[in-house]
Amino acid sequence: MNPPSDSALGASMSEVLFSAQDIATKVVEMGAELADHYRGKRPLVVGILNGCFPFIADLVRAMDIELEVDFMSVSSYGAGTKSTGVVRFIKDLNQPIQGRHVLLVEDIIDTGLTLRYLTEALQTRKPESIEVCALLDKQAGRTQNIEVRWRGFMCPDAFVVGYGLDYAGIYRNLPYVGVLDPSVYRGK
Ligand code: PRP
Repeated sequence: MNPPSDSALGASMSEVLFSAQDIATKVVEMGAELADHYRGKRPLVVGILNGCFPFIADLVRAMDIELEVDFMSVSSYGAGTKSTGVVRFIKDLNQPIQGRHVLLVEDIIDTGLTLRYLTEALQTRKPESIEVCALLDKQAGRTQNIEVRWRGFMCPDAFVVGYGLDYAGIYRNLPYVGVLDPSVYRGK
């Protein structure tokens, strides 16, 4: 699908992979499934900043159960398009998680390094459970063995942006997920 021709940000995209409507439909489906799984368990839904923000906002509104929301921030990427393999811990949770059901929410899983690091760190705090929900799963990039219990879409091995995903901080506010035109980052 082509990006809208009258869009300033869309001009940097080579194609739309998942439209705003595709995403909305999928998120409602995932929210219903998660609500069934977590009903009565009052989960702590943890968004991994920054890319999770549109997804978690839509996802929790599709979960008709009692839940709490918190955020963590780690960074594994610099301004480029490839993982550096370095994970930096920037913001921790605001509360203890011992005995809690924790649901980690990611926009995309690539190498799996961020999630491996996070789940290992959080397991030491003795939660009742930790599960992972990601909108996009880019399995071609995977170097770590991690379990993703809920995923929205399999993501092709392309540089994708939009709906929270950025390139050098830009494009997070696109309402869809698209492939960034290589001319934007070639030679950088
Ligand atoms: C992205 C994404 C995940 C991570 C996935 O975050 O949100 O947290 O990379 O990659 P991995 O599986 O190879 O670890 P990023 O570090 O780019 O930060 P951002 O969410 O602020 O864009």
